[in-house]
Amino acid sequence: MLASSPISALAREMAAIFATEGRDDADLTGQELIAGHWPDGVNHPPMTLEAELRTCLATSAHPCAGAIGAAIPMTPWGTNPVENRMLEREASMIAVATLLDPDGPMPSRRFRAGLLFQRAGTYYRLHTHDAVETYAIVAGSADWIAGSDRRLRGAGDVIHHPSRMPHAFRAGPAGFVAIWRWSGDINSHSYTFLPDPEVA
Ligand SMILES: [Fe+2]
Repeated sequence: MLASSPISALAREMAAIFATEGRDDADLTGQELIAGHWPDGVNHPPMTLEAELRTCLATSAHPCAGAIGAAIPMTPWGTNPVENRMLEREASMIAVATLLDPDGPMPSRRFRAGLLFQRAGTYYRLHTHDAVETYAIVAGSADWIAGSDRRLRGAGDVIHHPSRMPHAFRAGPAGFVAIWRWSGDINSHSYTFLPDPEVA
């Protein structure tokens, strides 16, 4: 990967955040992002939520928010590794870009990592999966449920979900933008929505 490319700058910002976790898998994910080869010809069709994404990013002074904005033209938004587990109502409220994954664009044998934008005011219902997961919010806010913990999260907050911990997010008035990573058992087939009292 070219050291000066917007994707490599984004990779460094993501690694810097993951390094604050104090977990070996987070450190290793960051190292793979920085060292990873970004292949030529990555498909990045127009991001249908780009205007909303940019509006949300503009509310944040977080350095990773700037890096995500600068990398939009070459970021493969629309590459959610678990999109086939969702109904249309979930798929339409979020946009996911996968950067590190067994299937690429940056290949990893052990980890997945990428970006997520959730639209303003939407509720992404309770779900769970085998993978250990960390989100770090870089712009906007969300009412965040992680197991028995529920609180308002905003830029700079890092949230860790152990394997199988139920989690759900209600996006704030600007939506939110986050980076995410998976480690442990990163299979997609265990991604499951749960009965959720917030959903009538
Ligand atoms: Fe998750």
